Amino acid sequence: MTAKLISGTEVAAQIRAEIKQEVEQLKAKHNIVPGLATVLLGLDPASVSYITGKEKAAKELGFYSERIDLPDNTPQQEVMAIVNRLNNDPKIHGVLVQVPLPKHINETEVLLAIDPKKDVDGFHPFNVGKMVIGEPDYLPCTPAGIQQLLIRSGIQTDGAEVVVVGRSNIVGKPIANILLQKAKGANATVTVCHTRTKDMAFHTRRADILIVAAGRPKAITADMVKEGAVVIDVGVNRIGMSKSGKAILAGDVDFDAVKEKASFITPVPGGVGPMTITMLMQNTLKAAKLTAGIK
Ligand SMILES: NC(=O)c1ccc[n+]([C@@H]2O[C@H](COP(=O)([O-])OP(=O)(O)OC[C@H]3O[C@@H](n4cnc5c(N)ncnc54)[C@H](OP(=O)(O)O)[C@@H]3O)[C@@H](O)[C@H]2O)c1
Repeated sequence: MTAKLISGTEVAAQIRAEIKQEVEQLKAKHNIVPGLATVLLGLDPASVSYITGKEKAAKELGFYSERIDLPDNTPQQEVMAIVNRLNNDPKIHGVLVQVPLPKHINETEVLLAIDPKKDVDGFHPFNVGKMVIGEPDYLPCTPAGIQQLLIRSGIQTDGAEVVVVGRSNIVGKPIANILLQKAKGANATVTVCHTRTKDMAFHTRRADILIVAAGRPKAITADMVKEGAVVIDVGVNRIGMSKSGKAILAGDVDFDAVKEKASFITPVPGGVGPMTITMLMQNTLKAAKLTAGIK
């Protein structure tokens, strides 16, 4: 079997078109413009690239966007004051502080300071709790993007054996939680693997849907995958540099071999990646609507 490619680029474009249309209606009917503020400390190239992508997407969709770039030695108190100002700014519906933060900053304190109503990353414990009890306002963006890829590719999760490799707070744990909910696009039986899992291949081979977020190139080889499985590769690993100086990226799955066994597979790049920023935009639109009491 050769797998069908799930194009995150195409699904993301489809969702962005829907968001753009809703933003236009929100403006025309209610005079509301969704506003997203991003805060970045320092010049870490990956973080600068993420923030630039978020700012660009916000502008393209007709959002109000505010970008705050700070030196990496900015004191904790100043970051807290900025978060507090954004929490109280009615033009801003979503506040995103780019992590990881420099070592002298207490990251937990900063993330806890974001008003949960403006927590469009979905990382505040209040929103994590709402997700776990099945009453989410904002789902974390990468896992929400994975669920949309499954739904929009017509993949049945109801009753499916889902195996997640990785248990981070930003991918593994939330996607496991989302897919086990008693809800549309969920209702799966979920197993989560990590570095202490005994015989990981025993679990991955049972998976109807295998979601891999380990951050290790070729963590999943073809012998670990069931014939006809759906494989979602979240990993983004820099495995080299092109002659023009661009990073060469690979996922966590041995793509060329696994695609011969899977029924569906996401590529890297162009799979899960484009969905993350798109779901951030979706959450910001939702925040604007929730603030205005619009369903
Ligand atoms: N496309 C996107 O938008 C997007 C967004 C977020 C992350 N990512 C990518 O996804 C990957 C994972 O990110 P993350 O933040 O979740 O990483 P992380 O915090 O480093 O967590 C990795 C998880 O994988 C587990 N793991 C690592 N190697 C393993 C192995 N050989 N067998 C079994 N489990 C293993 C770890 O287990 P332990 O807990 O036991 O250490 C850990 O739970 C990274 O490549 C990252 O760049 C992509």
